[in-house]
Amino acid sequence: MSQIISEEIIAQIERTAEAEVSGATTPDQLESIRIKYLGRKGQVAQIMDSLGALPAEDRPRAGRLANELKKRLTEMIDQRSALLSAASGAFPAGKAIDVTVPGKRLPLGTIHPISAAIEEVCACMRQLGFDYAEGPEVEDEFHNFDGLNIPPNHPARDISSNFYVTDTMLLRSQTSTVQIRYMEKHKAPIRIFAPGKVFRPDTVDASHYHTFHQVEGLWVDEGISFSHLKTVLFLFGRLILGEDVKLRLRPSFFPFTEPSAEIDFSCFICGGRGCPTCSRKGWIEMGGCGMVHPKVLEGVNIDSEKYTGFAFGIGIDRLVMARYGIDDVRLLFGNDLRFLRQF
Ligand code: DAH
Repeated sequence: MSQIISEEIIAQIERTAEAEVSGATTPDQLESIRIKYLGRKGQVAQIMDSLGALPAEDRPRAGRLANELKKRLTEMIDQRSALLSAASGAFPAGKAIDVTVPGKRLPLGTIHPISAAIEEVCACMRQLGFDYAEGPEVEDEFHNFDGLNIPPNHPARDISSNFYVTDTMLLRSQTSTVQIRYMEKHKAPIRIFAPGKVFRPDTVDASHYHTFHQVEGLWVDEGISFSHLKTVLFLFGRLILGEDVKLRLRPSFFPFTEPSAEIDFSCFICGGRGCPTCSRKGWIEMGGCGMVHPKVLEGVNIDSEKYTGFAFGIGIDRLVMARYGIDDVRLLFGNDLRFLRQF
């Protein structure tokens, strides 16, 4: 090596080596760099060889610089070698570790169609000025029956029609329980909705499941009439099912309302002409409603001479089924990804 051995030159060799070493991505590449610098005919060896040609007074300093370079290059290469062999366990040989590659993404699920419908129903009820309310899924007989004017011998109370967990406690069979719980704690005027799960030991088939979802509505104030009920249900139907939906109220009976009615909406698959979804009727039954029975109001100390109210309960699962033309309720609870991925 004919060049003068200066700190500058040593530093330059070191910089070049450093760049090459850190660019090495395989043990083979690193080995050829090692040979280039530290091999028998490598750059360090050449520097060592050239020391003899230097004036005697320059030799010790140049020797020291060369030795230090050798030490640093050796360390540098050893470190890189350790890194490459550690990484070779995790990465296929010959592949660089690209730290900019995005991490593996976990597949994201989608919102269950029932949850999505509940969200929508909530937004819609809020828009109509109703407040959210909730109650327990494990209920006592009082809130599930007595408070709702359902007498002790009523068939709806039968053990075969309910999931009793003790002699007096059961999984609620309707969200109407929340009416009672809310009215016990709040004075009129009251305007609430309560979505949630309800449970009945029906034999599971295409249209029955032991667990389903309802949304309860309750509005109690001075001068509330059946026309308010009809208007709220009509607006609810339009918001959830679209502008063209028609509402039909059929006279019915519930112990906690008088008068009572079944709520039908025109089928939004066929628009009312008749199709398999609506069993060719053109209408789909969605729930029940009526004017809150005076006995129910009095039971929670609301003056039924001063206040009147309406209530309704709508089946959310039915809404979802009718909306998407789903003909078997079990699909909604099957946790089958082939089904769920469609939403
Ligand atoms: N709770 C009734 C059911 O599950 C539905 C219902 C009917 C709710 C009339 C009401 C109502 O609030 O007024 O079948």
